[in-house]
Amino acid sequence: MAKQSDSWGSRTGLILAMAGNAVGLGNFLRFPVQAVQNGGGSFIIPYLVCFILMGIPLLFTEWSIGRFGGKKGNHSTPYILDSMSKRNWWKYIGVFGIFTNIAVVAYYTYIESWTFIYVIHTVIGTFTQMTQAEVSEFFVQYVNLNGSDFGIPFLPVLVYILVLGINIYILSTGLGGIEKVAKIGMPLLILFGAVLAFKGWTMGTENASAAFPDANAWDGINFLWTPQYGSLLDPKVWLAAAGQIFFTLSVGMGSIQCYASYLKENEDIALNSLTSGFTNELVEIVLGSAIVIPIAAGFLGLDWIIENAGFGMAFQTMPYLFVQWGELFGMIAGICWFGLLFFAGITSSLAMGTPWMGFMQDEFGWGKVKGAVSFGILALIMGLPTILFYQYGYFDEYDYWAGTVSLVVFALLEMVLFTWVFGMDRGWAELNRGADIRIPIGYKWVMKYITPVLLLLVLLSALITPESNDWTAAFTSLMNGEGWALDPSSLISKLTHDDLKLLQLNDPQNRDMYDSKILFSTLARIQMLVLFLFIAALVWYSGIKRKSISHE
Ligand code: TRP
Ligand code: TRP
Repeated sequence: MAKQSDSWGSRTGLILAMAGNAVGLGNFLRFPVQAVQNGGGSFIIPYLVCFILMGIPLLFTEWSIGRFGGKKGNHSTPYILDSMSKRNWWKYIGVFGIFTNIAVVAYYTYIESWTFIYVIHTVIGTFTQMTQAEVSEFFVQYVNLNGSDFGIPFLPVLVYILVLGINIYILSTGLGGIEKVAKIGMPLLILFGAVLAFKGWTMGTENASAAFPDANAWDGINFLWTPQYGSLLDPKVWLAAAGQIFFTLSVGMGSIQCYASYLKENEDIALNSLTSGFTNELVEIVLGSAIVIPIAAGFLGLDWIIENAGFGMAFQTMPYLFVQWGELFGMIAGICWFGLLFFAGITSSLAMGTPWMGFMQDEFGWGKVKGAVSFGILALIMGLPTILFYQYGYFDEYDYWAGTVSLVVFALLEMVLFTWVFGMDRGWAELNRGADIRIPIGYKWVMKYITPVLLLLVLLSALITPESNDWTAAFTSLMNGEGWALDPSSLISKLTHDDLKLLQLNDPQNRDMYDSKILFSTLARIQMLVLFLFIAALVWYSGIKRKSISHE
């Protein structure tokens, strides 16, 4: 096993890389949509509570186990987890920490490639003469692979491969390259975000039009920031808040553990983990909420947003709105927006490459170039179907199972390992070794009892979400012997495709489309399963190799 390993160049570099890992498309695309769909101000309180009770404890845990594993020459979760328990099956749980990254990078890089091509379209003025409907349709044509921009068929596939290639190139230069990209990308991202956020905060009603006379950017801001206590008891909102916290902090994924495994033995983790976590939250809360929502509210009004909130807004609506600001500032705004998304994306997609590369280096002695290229090939195999079958929901299937469910499952298991198997006393000592700050001792208790229980609750409530999210009605019905009616959004209904079957029942005209969706969703699951088993097989094989080496 290769013991010589990379390490971080400087503390600033480390923090920027970790913040770059966390700050991603999730901050700018996912957060605003989640917030709007979950009632704006009613989302914020559960969101912050989840940050404090789940996000921070998970950051502490992942940084600690990462540094602990790195000390023994392990840089990916299979053997990091293995080194923390006497049982030999934990390394298979660690498979999640490589699997998630490869499955997510497949579709994540696709979004990243949209941001890349949209910077170019902004510069060459593609959107300047288009109506709002045309801009929106432009995106639909692109993802449905119907467009022939520049006369090139399958352009989306080519752009995807190009952006993936950029990632592979940077990964092949190792941690140094990642650090460099973070040092350039993060400040630029903040600068671009600040320009747009300033506009979002100051535009007020100046862009209201005859069609949308009530448009007011402040309505967007107030909608997000006026706390609503009404839905504090709504599990659906809590679930969405927890899901967002996981995704945005990159916890439950394996990439933080991998980054942390390149720390030195006594390097601080308490302060560093908090700094990068809070940087992510600052960017998400301040910049993530000050751009899309207020700007769209300023042009189209809050009602329009509530009706249309979705993740296409960034690509289908924003380019049209920017054009309304005139040629020059319109172009600047477009470059800022898509440039910001690109940098946010790439610093995260790079992080997704490292667990695989670390694993292949540790176990099979693969160098950086071989590691990066093989990662690219895996990403491509996983990614191509998400592009080709985008309209059939291949993409969403990955996002749900790999980008949402896996995170919670893995986070729960690693938390149990750290606080109960490894032991909270040892864990606490590990976390505090070399610490530059004192973490309140109460957190020890939170980490051991509160966080795992909350994780379990999140998982269970997602599994059996009752019809219409009405838990009271569900329990009453159970007590009366009438059973438990599942909501189509529950994990079990998704698993059995009951969600799609219900939609199909209510929409008989599109029967065939739903049949295709069910088929492609099954294929996507098979593909993810094969990836998981492939990594598990590598872990199994590496275990045999390790044994034979230690017997020599
Ligand atoms: N946190 C990133 C975001 O907000 C996403 C991300 C980073 C991620 N690293 C990851 C997702 C690893 C899955 C696996 O967009
Ligand atoms: N599914 C989210 C929505 O439409 C969007 C989304 C999912 C997303 N995964 C993402 C956005 C990853 C950015 C990055 O509400």
